[in-house]
Amino acid sequence: MEYRIALLKGDGIGVEIIDSAVAVLERIGEKFGHSFRFTPYIIGGAAIDETGDPLPAETVKGCRASDSVLLGAVGGPKWDGLPGDKRPEKALLGIRKALGLYTNLRPAKLFPALKGASPLREDIVGAGFDIMIVRELTGGIYFGERGYRQGKLGEEAFDTEAYSVTEIERIGRAAFEIARKRGRRVTSIDKANVLETSRLWRKTMHSLAENYTDIEYRDMLVDNAAMQLVRDPKQFDVIVTSNMFGDILSDEASQITGSIGMLASASLGDGTRGMYEPIHGSAPDIAGQDKANPIATILSAAMMLRYSFGLSAEAAAIEKAVDIVLEAGFRTADIIGSSAAAAIGCREMTQRVVAALE
Ligand code: IPM
Ligand code: MG
Repeated sequence: MEYRIALLKGDGIGVEIIDSAVAVLERIGEKFGHSFRFTPYIIGGAAIDETGDPLPAETVKGCRASDSVLLGAVGGPKWDGLPGDKRPEKALLGIRKALGLYTNLRPAKLFPALKGASPLREDIVGAGFDIMIVRELTGGIYFGERGYRQGKLGEEAFDTEAYSVTEIERIGRAAFEIARKRGRRVTSIDKANVLETSRLWRKTMHSLAENYTDIEYRDMLVDNAAMQLVRDPKQFDVIVTSNMFGDILSDEASQITGSIGMLASASLGDGTRGMYEPIHGSAPDIAGQDKANPIATILSAAMMLRYSFGLSAEAAAIEKAVDIVLEAGFRTADIIGSSAAAAIGCREMTQRVVAALE
């Protein structure tokens, strides 16, 4: 089988970590007899520098013509001064929307080898936790009407949040279906004590839940959820929430696993094409220095194999290789608790994962 993969390296460490994932995929291809055809397209700051546009039409076209998309990271201080709709981040929102990727899966799982790296106390972490955050990705306040206007107190800015029943239903269904393949528990997170969008969200989730009687369902307010995540993360299996709440809670959930440098994500729509990316950013401070942790991107490639191509054995092989390398004690500098002196670089980590695939 041949699979066409669009590579969006983007900015900062995006370049190095995509190269790592490609190395791992190539070895998987050899081992399992698949051919992966990689085509790079520019996005983010790199695209601004080259064309003035963070998301060139060529890039969208290339992604649409591919079987799946692997993304590094976008953004950096160089482009921070640009107006909102010209910033590298705008490309990320644009490509998610253009490809119809409304379901964002962000697993926050504690790797047993990294237990000591979690900032949570040992008695809280216990035997570990395994949370799947299902974040709505193409609606809500990220895509609502926004702008500037004259208010009573002079100039003001505004952003609005809108959610349709259709949008809530499709993300809700995605969450319930995923829960069926895991711990069968869904927590829907909202701010229904204040926001109208959250009240519609909650009502819609409740009607959906009636069709999933095998799933244990509950609502939780977002402020409480932020607290519960550090008080007792084991209580969560699948979390489903809006675009902005998911953005915030997924960073929190990732940090309690010990390192944001470990966590992968998948963005999916109705078809099999998805976009896979590490949840961390472009880390401009360490870009090009061989210090980045490639594991989140390597695990994102594994998610691609599983969710877009149905190659579960191949995905499991990658996940196992990562476990082996971590169990053997190898760490990149971002992993809390590992002394910088003992840390290995991005290239060595990649080579070790590739070697562990044997
Ligand atoms: C993320 C990021 C993006 C988001 C930014 C870079 C636009 O924080 O993927 O979580 O808010 O969605
Ligand atoms: Mg974020």
